[in-house]
Amino acid sequence: MKKRVVYSAIQPSGIMTLGNYIGAVKNWHELQANDNNSCIFALADLHTITVRQDPDALRRNTKSFLALLLAAGIDPSSSVVYIQSHVHEHAELAWLLNCYTYVGEMNRMTQFKDKSAKHSDNINMGLMDYPVLMAADILLYDSDVVPVGVDQMQHLEIARDIAGRFNNSYGETFVVPTGQLTKTGAKIMSLQDPTAKMSKSDPNPNAVISVLDSADDIARKIKRAVTDSGSEIVYDVENKPGVSNLLTILASAEGATIEDEVKRFKGKMYGHLKVACAEAVVEMLRPFRERYDALIADEGALLAFARDGAAKAEQIAARTLARAKDKIGFVL
Ligand code: TYM
Repeated sequence: MKKRVVYSAIQPSGIMTLGNYIGAVKNWHELQANDNNSCIFALADLHTITVRQDPDALRRNTKSFLALLLAAGIDPSSSVVYIQSHVHEHAELAWLLNCYTYVGEMNRMTQFKDKSAKHSDNINMGLMDYPVLMAADILLYDSDVVPVGVDQMQHLEIARDIAGRFNNSYGETFVVPTGQLTKTGAKIMSLQDPTAKMSKSDPNPNAVISVLDSADDIARKIKRAVTDSGSEIVYDVENKPGVSNLLTILASAEGATIEDEVKRFKGKMYGHLKVACAEAVVEMLRPFRERYDALIADEGALLAFARDGAAKAEQIAARTLARAKDKIGFVL
């Protein structure tokens, strides 16, 4: 039986947040454990330069995120793990797909509008074209399933539209992928403003938990998390966004349901929820630090994993790119 291709990627910029982990990477690890899946995970470094990156920081972060993925249990002997810029087919397919994508579609993308407002001095073409590069990433591997957090779903929809449009013009060429949200925690919110997404670019360090934060830092940040008026612990995103976010983090960290957590905290106080949440997050992330320290110390081994992953990825990507070029009418 043909295995299901699972594809996803993460930008190696800033820190890996608790949101990245709960909303995406933890799910990747679970998908990898299923023998029916063939998993491919990338570090989307080409995407990072849509906003200015310091060259040394980009190099450092790319290696660090690679070590983080491995520390999270992504195993290069069962999944393909690679750095996007090592596989030139991504940029090449993105160009082809650009010619089947409309400016109006890109203009409407929420993330483009948000980032344009945030980086008004640098609204470059790459920022607008970002979803097309992401479509190229996904379509190159005939991906069936793309596990992402809520914020990437709109981009996934565009990838589906582009694939469908190309197939309609030239006949079946690309697999039309399906997005998949994690059951609990597809949108982890900022600890300081629970109506906004927890984001690695948040300037307030108290709003964000890094997967490498110490136990003390995690406990302190959760203790200071903004909660809501009243005292009842209920899951109500609209009226109690802070408490709902803590319940989501706790349920996800313990592998429990939100309903179970609500029952458990009936009649208890916000402080109890915070203590339990901090303990669960510390426990979930404990193995990270130790594994990470060992992995990051051996740069040679780390880069060998990346080269090996890129060679495997390229074999698949080159075939798909050739198929698309042939359909378009390029002389091969
Ligand atoms: P990135 O690097 O911003 O985030 C990586 C993954 O983490 C999820 N995520 C969250 N989930 C829950 N709560 C949060 N607060 C939170 N913040 C981030 C994201 O949804 C994502 O799944 N464009 C992508 C990277 C990418 C990609 C791809 C993804 C490039 N090519 C192809 C899938 C397929 C991005 O910037 O993710």
